[in-house]
Amino acid sequence: MELMEMLAESKAYIESKLGGRKPVVGIILGSGLGDMAETIEDAVIIDYHNIPHFPVSTVPGHKGRLVIGELEGKTVLCMQGRFHYYEGYSMDEVVYPIRTMKMLGINALFLTNAAGCVNTEWNAGDLMIITDHIKLVAENPLRGKNPDELGSRFFDMTQAYDKNLVAVAEKAAEELGINVRKGVYMLFTGPSFETAAEVRFARIAGADAVGMSTVPEAIAASHMRMHTMGISCLTNMAAGILDQPLNHEEVLETGERVKKSFSALVREIIKSWPADKL
Ligand code: HPA
Repeated sequence: MELMEMLAESKAYIESKLGGRKPVVGIILGSGLGDMAETIEDAVIIDYHNIPHFPVSTVPGHKGRLVIGELEGKTVLCMQGRFHYYEGYSMDEVVYPIRTMKMLGINALFLTNAAGCVNTEWNAGDLMIITDHIKLVAENPLRGKNPDELGSRFFDMTQAYDKNLVAVAEKAAEELGINVRKGVYMLFTGPSFETAAEVRFARIAGADAVGMSTVPEAIAASHMRMHTMGISCLTNMAAGILDQPLNHEEVLETGERVKKSFSALVREIIKSWPADKL
């Protein structure tokens, strides 16, 4: 089946559950940040496995469902659990939900993730507004036949992380008294964490954080000219910075520790999301 037909079926299924409500912002919650979805009001919950053509999530700590409802006066569609390349999904599958969002009329995308902190001036537990990314992974979700209905063959990435939305996020953090960082996120495939040498390389290349998600989604969103912003929760110092091994438990623990300020920041940003970026 053609991509556009599949998307039309996914869209129709989701719309059939929404009773005419129109989500305006798509939110993806990363590792350990999924609880945020529980605070969405008047929620309609749709399990991924019920949506025609949707992939299904496999990672512990990731639920696999859409939560659609009200957050700070806006109707949002929140993904509790995302699809990672390391799980074995193709890039097409990884970005399928983003394309579904666009089909539903959503033009604003809020990406979150857990990431390793590469910048040695910063600390585990810091939140980072993503200003740009580096894609080391060779695969690109737009490789292959271009879905012309969604966007053009070649497309700009200079506004992949919308500069006005970065400013909105900075202001929101300031108002909440949260000391937020701004920096560059670099994609690795995972599921192995990076080596110490890869982290040194990432730093020299200009990265402040390393992680295993977000970049394909931001690329697909740019292709469809969506207004995107991203925030990383820097759950651990990246490999080799501290004299200790990395583990997924630390990622989840830090996520747990900062989830209050993280949720507050997400809310404040949603509240002040500008109308011209919807
Ligand atoms: N590396 C890659 N992905 C991650 C990390 C890390 O150190 N921490 C959380 N996600």
